Amino acid sequence: MADDPSDADTPADAASGTPDDSAPDTPEDAAPDTPDDSATGTANDWDPDAYDRDTGFVHEYGGSVVDLLDPSPGERVLDLGCGTGHLTAAIADAVGESGSVVGVDQSAEMVERARATYHDQRFEVADAREYAPADERFDAVFSNAALHWIPGADQPSVAERVRELLVPGGRFVAEMGGAGNVATVVDATLAELRARGYDATNPWHFPTVGEHAAVLESAGFEVRLARLFDRPTELEGGAEGLARWLDVFGDSLFADLDDGEKADVVDAVEARVRDELFDPDAGEEGVWTADYRRLRFVAVRE
Ligand SMILES: C[S@@+](CC[C@H](N)C(=O)[O-])C[C@H]1O[C@@H](n2cnc3c(N)ncnc32)[C@H](O)[C@@H]1O
Repeated sequence: MADDPSDADTPADAASGTPDDSAPDTPEDAAPDTPDDSATGTANDWDPDAYDRDTGFVHEYGGSVVDLLDPSPGERVLDLGCGTGHLTAAIADAVGESGSVVGVDQSAEMVERARATYHDQRFEVADAREYAPADERFDAVFSNAALHWIPGADQPSVAERVRELLVPGGRFVAEMGGAGNVATVVDATLAELRARGYDATNPWHFPTVGEHAAVLESAGFEVRLARLFDRPTELEGGAEGLARWLDVFGDSLFADLDDGEKADVVDAVEARVRDELFDPDAGEEGVWTADYRRLRFVAVRE
């Protein structure tokens, strides 16, 4: 149901992102007006059923990040934060039998689903900050929509770990939420929670190009491409789209609330952002469009 990802996400578009293009040079590109409590990070209760049913656009859009990775037959690839494994499987198809792919995810539930769906693929439960397989190195490390779940304070650890996992000249190709990602939704949710007396903070790490490129360079990468771009994203579920999105991704925002108050907050958030994000005339019962912004990069181990 997502817009054609190729509209905004083609490798050709990405490749055109020169350092000058990607520099945050307009107010719109600047850091969002959302507090970033990334030092504490977030814990999400991942539900593979809801993830695949309600947020299939994540891996659908991620197909263009696989295109950017451009995996070749025979390559060894690591997929960090592989979730339910759809992109891991797509990469496996590309590298063929002479290559290998391992999908790694912190969530045992997501890995269990990935293994059940793709019997022939290798998946492991592990934290991206610590994954250290013995005597194994990769030609490329890939990641889609996972890195922003890791606190900003831990991003250097991830970059350093990835560097160690790559062969010299190996590439780190990834997309994550970038500065300003879903800011309308986040700001409204934080405002509603604070109005109710909760000490709410943004649980995600959505960096600027400059912030993340500095992390990668400090870890020993040459950043060949880094690009921040708007990607308005239609949510699945019609009139229920925003509620379902919050249900799949927002556990840490609602950790202190019982089910009744969570439902009240979700209703209130919908009311706050309806004019901006909901089109009542689209689809059969209306469509929510979230203000996604993505940061994608290609970095090569020096
Ligand atoms: C939005 S899903 C994306 C899954 C998949 N890459 C895709 O495109 O469908 C984010 C995934 O990142 C994983 N994740 C979050 N923090 C992680 C960490 N520190 N180490 C490994 N995986 C992590 C989550 O468990 C979740 O499965």
